[in-house]
Amino acid sequence: MVQSGQRTKRIEKQMPNFNIKASKYDFASEPQAELAKGLFELSLDYLPDTLPVLLDVGCGTGHLSLDLAALFPKSLDCLDISKEMLEVCREKLQVDFSSVKWRLFENDAENFEPDIKYDGIYCSAAIQWFADIPKFLSRAKKWLKPNGILCIGAFGEKTLCELRTAYIEATDRRLETEAKFFSLDKLTAISKKADFELLDFAKCIYVQGFENPDVALRTLGDMGVTGAGKKSLSRTEVQKFKEVLLKTGNENFAVNFSWELMAMILRAKEIRL
Ligand SMILES: C[S@@+](CC[C@H](N)C(=O)[O-])C[C@H]1O[C@@H](n2cnc3c(N)ncnc32)[C@H](O)[C@@H]1O
Repeated sequence: MVQSGQRTKRIEKQMPNFNIKASKYDFASEPQAELAKGLFELSLDYLPDTLPVLLDVGCGTGHLSLDLAALFPKSLDCLDISKEMLEVCREKLQVDFSSVKWRLFENDAENFEPDIKYDGIYCSAAIQWFADIPKFLSRAKKWLKPNGILCIGAFGEKTLCELRTAYIEATDRRLETEAKFFSLDKLTAISKKADFELLDFAKCIYVQGFENPDVALRTLGDMGVTGAGKKSLSRTEVQKFKEVLLKTGNENFAVNFSWELMAMILRAKEIRL
């Protein structure tokens, strides 16, 4: 069952169209899969001993949802704005987890109104698309049970530094991407303002290698990373861009991109009277 709520048009959200990317996403999204795995593992110590009630926000094709389902939770809600991404997630859950009580919600996380409270809310590789992250955090806080945790997996500022450098070298312009990347300190400060405390975190650089610049750029497109600038590159700029990208190569791959993976476990601060 896909439940629809008030959908916000993609055009207002400044994000890629994940509906047309769903079929390719799983092949392209190594860094997202790695982030989801790290976040899941980090969160395990903070879940209650009883069977948890869980929510996966921006679940996509289910990298994290499947791990959460494997905990055999009391219930699992998976939420995404993209119907096609949810369909892929649903197919996987149906195959392996028909005995788990899961529900899919096609909705905008920034408008969602859940009908239950959660022990754990997860959001991996999705927050970068949200229009108002502080507002999302304040709302998500209300969806948690007392002592519930909010687990955020995000990409840090160093993410795709090679791509940005190559773009400037080739065009003399800055690469504008639709996604927002923050430092861990910045995200911690934003979550503190929303009255969360940081219980735990982990971060690392994950390097994704490609056989040539075309494959590298196509893979980024398939996972939803696209330039937001209106100005397209001239033929000469494209050529130069690819040449500079080749400078990131090593003995294993012609092109390498860094992803700064950050996992954060947050809990709403107790209100002391
Ligand atoms: C890069 S994918 C990550 C998917 C999954 N969490 C993973 O780890 O692979 C980002 C997902 O967030 C979803 N998304 C982006 N903005 C959203 C929003 N405002 N509400 C719900 N889902 C959103 C997209 O549709 C997409 O499926």
